[in-house]
Amino acid sequence: MSDFALERRVRKAIRELEADGLRRTLKPPSGIDLSSNDYLGLATHPFVKQKMAESVMKEGCGSTGSRLLRGNRESFTRVERRFAEFKGTEAALYFGSGYSANIGVLSTFIERNDLVFSDEHNHASIIDGIRLSRAKRTKFPHCDVDRVARLLREAPLDVQKFLVTESLFSMDGDFAPLAEYADLCRETGTSLIVDEAHAVGIYGNRGSGYVEHTGTHDGVFLTVNTAGKALGVAGAFVAGPDWAIDFLIQRSRSFIFSTAPPPPVAAALEASLDIIRDEPERRIQLLAKSRLLRRILGDSGLDIPSSGSQIIPVILGTNKRATQAAEELQHEGFDVRALRPPTVPAGTARLRVTVNVGLEESTLHRFATTLGKVCSTVCS
Ligand SMILES: Cc1ncc(COP(=O)(O)O)c(C=O)c1O
Repeated sequence: MSDFALERRVRKAIRELEADGLRRTLKPPSGIDLSSNDYLGLATHPFVKQKMAESVMKEGCGSTGSRLLRGNRESFTRVERRFAEFKGTEAALYFGSGYSANIGVLSTFIERNDLVFSDEHNHASIIDGIRLSRAKRTKFPHCDVDRVARLLREAPLDVQKFLVTESLFSMDGDFAPLAEYADLCRETGTSLIVDEAHAVGIYGNRGSGYVEHTGTHDGVFLTVNTAGKALGVAGAFVAGPDWAIDFLIQRSRSFIFSTAPPPPVAAALEASLDIIRDEPERRIQLLAKSRLLRRILGDSGLDIPSSGSQIIPVILGTNKRATQAAEELQHEGFDVRALRPPTVPAGTARLRVTVNVGLEESTLHRFATTLGKVCSTVCS
């Protein structure tokens, strides 16, 4: 195929995306943040910035190699030990992104003849990791405990089984029934892998995540904890037993065949963990503000699910409605983004509103009033 034919094919695909209201563009942040994952405001926290800057001056910018070669640093091992302690596990391993952590974990532990049960709303990185494993995947309806119970109990006893779920779902803002899953996994000899991307730093007494909040440590095999959301920096920690973490170092291709992240991110992450330990009021205020916004949005007539988390989906259905609503809100000074398929199921295009601790109550009230008006305009 010539380059010319390739260009024609690509241009046609882009035109089709445009016609379906699915063409994406890259826009910088602008306006009041109601869409980022910087829930605790740590991305710009002075202490985190200072620790990162000091480390740049001391260690330089790049790691210069993979962790197994010259790219390893004491700062990575130190922050991994800190994270394992925080999470209450034997060990942890730091990956350059949550995407590479998920594909690394799932393609390392799951083998071709294993069985994998995966929530239908799991993140793309989970779907891709399971694909790489080449095992048989059964998708189950979102958070459906009865279906999971039936599937696990009917599965053969002599096959290795995995249950994979997010703890707080990134697009729905609701929680997986982790306690029930942990019991079912124990009963049926299934290994439970939990993606804590949006829960780590926020839930549980120490803020280590929803596994801590639900007291399910004993029932969970591994957690994946992204560090670019509430932790405010980048990357992800996989936390679990030391034999599993050792195996990732031996076998995980996305860990092994990649340049180690810049060492200053490890220094910044230690600072984030200090703040999470020392300032529990941040997460308490975040959750209070999240409940407030959910309540006032509900009062203004919007259909808001009742989970109480900091992620609030406003489902508008069509791609056009969602993009139009996001544009109108941006025009009013609120940085809200539209989420469309394949990120969310077809017909459920939405605004994904997120709360961060820096938002003033008066801003939340002003936003709720504006959102109410925008939604009635786009839906009329
Ligand atoms: C549930 C979930 N898992 C994994 C990821 C990937 O993490 P990262 O952005 O660090 O690659 C994300 C973020 O987009 C996510 O929402």
